[in-house]
Amino acid sequence: MKGIILAGGNGTRLMPLTAVTNKSLLPVYDRPMIYYPLQMMAEAGIEEVLVVTGGANCGEMMRVLKDGNQFGLSRLYFTVQEKAGGISQALALAEQFAHGEKTFVVLGDNLVFGGNVAGAVREFAKYSEGAKVFLKRVPDPERFGIVGISDGRIESIEEKPKAPQSNLAVTGLYLYDATVFDKIRQLKPSARGELEVTDLNRLYLDDGQLGFAMLDGQWIDAGTFDSLAEASEMAQQAADTVPLAVAA
Ligand code: DAU
Repeated sequence: MKGIILAGGNGTRLMPLTAVTNKSLLPVYDRPMIYYPLQMMAEAGIEEVLVVTGGANCGEMMRVLKDGNQFGLSRLYFTVQEKAGGISQALALAEQFAHGEKTFVVLGDNLVFGGNVAGAVREFAKYSEGAKVFLKRVPDPERFGIVGISDGRIESIEEKPKAPQSNLAVTGLYLYDATVFDKIRQLKPSARGELEVTDLNRLYLDDGQLGFAMLDGQWIDAGTFDSLAEASEMAQQAADTVPLAVAA
């Protein structure tokens, strides 16, 4: 199974912090934000990871992450998304890298502390087809992709709904089978001109192939000023109880 971290985009919500660097390189407690998803990949037993980064800061990204050995990865690859065309558009750039294998895709601003992710990833790699998303209850559902669930199955999925059906957010961790790239080719840009990850997940839902797991660790999308500050607090507390696997 291959790992893909999506760290393109413009980081406009975090201006001016992102004026000269990539959002995923901003500090979260004692290390750059992107260290956390990379550590999560390594803990799940993924050996090869592709980082999709924005063109403006690709050199910095490579200088920080080097060859990935410090995370216990056997190989780290980089590619550039020239324009922020959406999460699915960034993922499309990974098709050759994935080489027909299943993928574990994580957004570069999504951090998880503790929980069941590694086990779910290994299980999907061995036994599952289709796609799987990780859900978390949130107090502010209008900020996220949101699912409706009935009889233990996802029955709807919507991006940042104005009138959310539930408070079950789709976190930025996704497991996909090899059909994901054909599905991306079917997508049309949304009203804001992006190829949306929620539209991609809906194609799996329409095929009856969108599974889910509840994320039982602590999770945060560090893409706003408040959540960035909160992420540092979470990381500090996590480091106090369970030392993070990789030295900063
Ligand atoms: O954090 C979970 C949420 O992430 C999900 O619930 C939403 O369904 C999903 O759309 C996404 O929402 P955001 O509003 O947080 O997405 P954002 O535009 O902030 O992008 C998240 C990351 O994805 C960003 O840090 C880097 C990557 N990205 C994004 C875009 C738009 C790319 O690599 N390329 C892109 O063009």
